[in-house]
Amino acid sequence: MVPSACVVTGASSGIGRQAALHLAERGVALALGGRSLERLEETASLCRSKGAACAIVAGDVCDENVMKGLADEARRLGKGGKVGAVLSAGVARFGDTETYSRQDWDETLSANLTALFVAAQALIPVFRAQGGGRALAVLSIASQVAFPQSAAYVASKFGALGLVKSLAAEYRREGIEWIAFLPGSTWTELWERMDSPLERERMLSAEDVGRAIADAVLHPGAGFLDEVVYLPKEGIL
Ligand SMILES: NC(=O)c1ccc[n+]([C@@H]2O[C@H](COP(=O)([O-])OP(=O)(O)OC[C@H]3O[C@@H](n4cnc5c(N)ncnc54)[C@H](OP(=O)(O)O)[C@@H]3O)[C@@H](O)[C@H]2O)c1
Repeated sequence: MVPSACVVTGASSGIGRQAALHLAERGVALALGGRSLERLEETASLCRSKGAACAIVAGDVCDENVMKGLADEARRLGKGGKVGAVLSAGVARFGDTETYSRQDWDETLSANLTALFVAAQALIPVFRAQGGGRALAVLSIASQVAFPQSAAYVASKFGALGLVKSLAAEYRREGIEWIAFLPGSTWTELWERMDSPLERERMLSAEDVGRAIADAVLHPGAGFLDEVVYLPKEGIL
């Protein structure tokens, strides 16, 4: 079910922002989520310059009212067309497990896993009311492969893949498609914040990943996409 309006979480930065821009270019109206109002306004203004209608709901992605607000705005902007979703909000904080802080563990699990449960509860009634729907969760190659100094991230992303596959199994009979999108290393601010030896040139660009996400969300076929893995040329870095 091709959407004419989409919720996009994580729209204030990186992959979520680029996905929003590619959807805007293809005429999709957007309900943009993230915590930074200023950066959401930047994304909205870029999307409006491409002709897309936009609304912003700033707040924590684990807050039920924020997710419901985003779903309501997408429905309003869609003007009777179908609503979809790109769920890109997430955090990555790396470090040795024995000294990793409990706060970083809790915040990683909340943003990367619990937020998808909250999103599902807000979106499923909207999808059901319109006779089906399509949501894409931005997971990671770390949903399939473990890396050192990454226990919280890997645990959250493995869990998120389990959740998205459970949602796909539970709701496909109602015409609701849950796409697990697993990018490899992608140059965004997430990497700028870390002291990593990985070179930017070897990574995917956020623009390419955003385009691939828009392609998946807008695919015209009647079949359901399930798990989409999108890697840099060299593979897993
Ligand atoms: N970059 C990579 O190599 C890579 C690879 C595979 C998968 N991914 C996944 O791609 C997604 C986006 O990552 P990115 O690389 O684009 O990182 P980014 O540039 O740091 O963007 C992260 C986004 O998530 C939002 N966010 C984080 N915690 C939030 C919260 N509690 N409530 C609301 N919004 C929250 C941020 O918004 P605010 O700052 O405004 O709160 C921001 O828009 C993540 O799920 C990440 O795990 C990234």
